[in-house]
This record gives sequence, structure tokens and C-alpha cells, in this order.
Amino acid sequence: MHRITGPALRRCAAWLAALPAALAVAAGPAADLAERRDNPPTTIERGAEVPAALVAPFVATPMPVVDAMLALARVGPVDFVIDLGSGDGRLVLAAVLKFGARGGFGVDIDPVLVDYATRKAHESGAANRVRFHVRDLFDTDVREATVVTVYLLPIAMDRLEAKLLRELAPGTRVVSHDYPFRGWAAERVVALDVPEKHDYTGRRSTSLYLYTVPARPASGTR
Ligand SMILES: C[S@@+](CC[C@H](N)C(=O)[O-])C[C@H]1O[C@@H](n2cnc3c(N)ncnc32)[C@H](O)[C@@H]1O
Repeated sequence: MHRITGPALRRCAAWLAALPAALAVAAGPAADLAERRDNPPTTIERGAEVPAALVAPFVATPMPVVDAMLALARVGPVDFVIDLGSGDGRLVLAAVLKFGARGGFGVDIDPVLVDYATRKAHESGAANRVRFHVRDLFDTDVREATVVTVYLLPIAMDRLEAKLLRELAPGTRVVSHDYPFRGWAAERVVALDVPEKHDYTGRRSTSLYLYTVPARPASGTR
């Protein structure tokens, strides 16, 4: 029996307010979806204590959506792709293996997911170009990125928006799955029909948001 206490309990309440279906899938019968059959169990499925820093449970982006996110960001050979909250590693691995990115890394708070993604990197021959780290995404140095991908709950987005705009180089592309940044105008919004998402979000529609980090005003400019 796992214990959820203090800050973790408050975060659970926030998830429930933000997206009930997301927490339900982490604990519920949707775990045996074909999409996730090969995935490691989530923190909640393992009965492990929920980390206080967790800002979204593990729900894998369906592969057609992974491809759409990377295409939207125009990922190619010059790119270095960082996935913040990388789960089983699929976005970073697809960036390198399918889109030819020169490299990338993912960070996740869950060591089981990081081990899994690292194993997948070795099995797929991508280990020389990708890395996965156990790290809080808010403590992650993102400056190397030319593309950042995220699939996180709304409670993470305001804080993340400020971090990305502060740290990323102008021209860096950011793609968010389903949840927009509230203070940053998206360059493109793409709507997709993804039937397999109905089982765990209760809806088939998916929205992808593309952002590009703007040039910074020259110092001294008001
Ligand atoms: C919705 S899943 C997305 C997984 C993957 N990016 C994808 O799209 O398939 C969110 C992931 O973020 C991780 N996560 C949540 N809070 C985190 C934090 N503070 N730092 C790093 N990872 C975090 C979770 O463990 C989970 O694997």
C-alpha cells in the first residue's frame, strides 16, 4: 500500500481538478491498452510513493501523434531534441531514428521510465546520440535544444513557459501536446483525430501547439 502525503497529495488534487481522466488512466484498466502493453508500469501502478515534483502522470503519446509533433517542429539533421518528462523515451528516440536529428535527451522524474528509455536506446542503436536522465524537468538545463517537446498537465505550463522563454535560444521550436502555454501565442495549432486516445482521455481530439522562441529585445531597449 503506497502512501500519498503532504505536497504529493495536494498535487493529486490539482491533477484531478485539471484533468480527471489523466490520473484515472495511470491507475486504471487502460494500462493494458495495446499502445502501452510494452511500457513499464507507472508510479501509481507500481504502488510507489508519488514524487512531490510530479506534474503529470505517465501517459505515452500515441506514435502517430509523436510523428505529427516532430513533423510540426520540422525536426531534421541539425536538431537537438529535448523531451521534458520523457516517459518511455519515444519522442527523443523517434526524433533521432525517424527524423534524423543529430541528438537529444529526455529527463523524467521516474527512474523506472529512465531505465526503460535507456534500454530502448541501446536496443535501437541510438545510444550514441541520445541520453535519458533522472531529473526534475524544472532543474534541467535546456540551452542545448533546438527543439523541445512536452506533454504535461496545465499546472506545469505557466512555470515552464517562463523557464523556456528565459533559457532557450531565439528560433528554438517548442511543441506541446494538448496543453498550450497561456501567455505565449502559438505559431500554429494543429488538430488531430486520434481514436486510441478516447480510451484514456475520454476524447479523440488532440491539439498540438507550435511555438518559436522570439528574438530578445536588444539590451537597453524598452
Ligand atoms: C504525460 S507523460 C509524457 C511522456 C512522454 N513525453 C510522451 O509524450 O510520451 C509525462 C511524463 O512527465 C514525467 N514527469 C512529471 N513530472 C516531472 C518532473 N517534475 N520532472 C521530470 N519529469 C516529470 C512523468 O513521470 C511522465 O513520464
